[in-house]
Amino acid sequence: MTGTSLAPPPIVPALRPSEYTAALIQALQADRDRVRGARVLEIGSGSGIVLAALGAMGAAALCGVDIEPDAILGSRRLLAGLGLAAPVEIHRGDMWLPVAGRRFDLIVANLPHFPMEPVPVAGRLPTWSSGGADGRWLLDPFLEGLPVHLAPGGRAVLTHNAFVGLDRSRAIACDHGLSFRILLTVLVYLAEEKLSRMTPEVLRAEDGQSLHRYGPYTFGEMHIVEIGAAAR
Ligand SMILES: C[S@@+](CC[C@H](N)C(=O)[O-])C[C@H]1O[C@@H](n2cnc3c(N)ncnc32)[C@H](O)[C@@H]1O
Repeated sequence: MTGTSLAPPPIVPALRPSEYTAALIQALQADRDRVRGARVLEIGSGSGIVLAALGAMGAAALCGVDIEPDAILGSRRLLAGLGLAAPVEIHRGDMWLPVAGRRFDLIVANLPHFPMEPVPVAGRLPTWSSGGADGRWLLDPFLEGLPVHLAPGGRAVLTHNAFVGLDRSRAIACDHGLSFRILLTVLVYLAEEKLSRMTPEVLRAEDGQSLHRYGPYTFGEMHIVEIGAAAR
């Protein structure tokens, strides 16, 4: 056999895509015509897999931001190996800081937003697995940054646990003159280990509402939300 076959980059277990990642990609694929030609930003790009999927759907340019060094290395390697037509930039930094002053047609995010106090994870920042007691540590600054980073007519698509205050997110969007709609709702399995760390007030309020328990097994509702800017 002639020619060289490039080995795929090794999977970094901590960056492995989740059910949240899969649902986000599914919602974006369902409307791929709106991805084609878009200048895309992902906040919290992790392994780079969502950017990879958007590149395959025909995005014009891909920009990722993540705060963890492993994510920067892993995503650069993944995206470089795919031979995508779109130019790729990956920045290490906190949320909006690396893209200050820039606007994008499509901004995606699957941020940590599970309502629990941070648990120490060796070598990781406190936000690695936790969204703080109310789950909104990262969600709120993400939403507040959208008005100055969405291009006219642009949109954001994000994962949003139903048990972290969907109405609050809708109100933030509305205050900034942005539209807000749910594209998809799925159930995600919540392992007992994770559920036992959930902020007790949230657990009490959401049990039987957005949290569905069947014996020892629990599922939580998770939405894929689209937030849009006016075309101007
Ligand atoms: C749940 S992972 C999602 C990774 C990938 N987008 C996916 O869907 O599989 C969340 C990512 O957000 C990143 N992150 C956490 N806090 C951040 C911050 N303040 N700024 C940028 N990225 C952050 C984490 O390092 C992690 O890679």
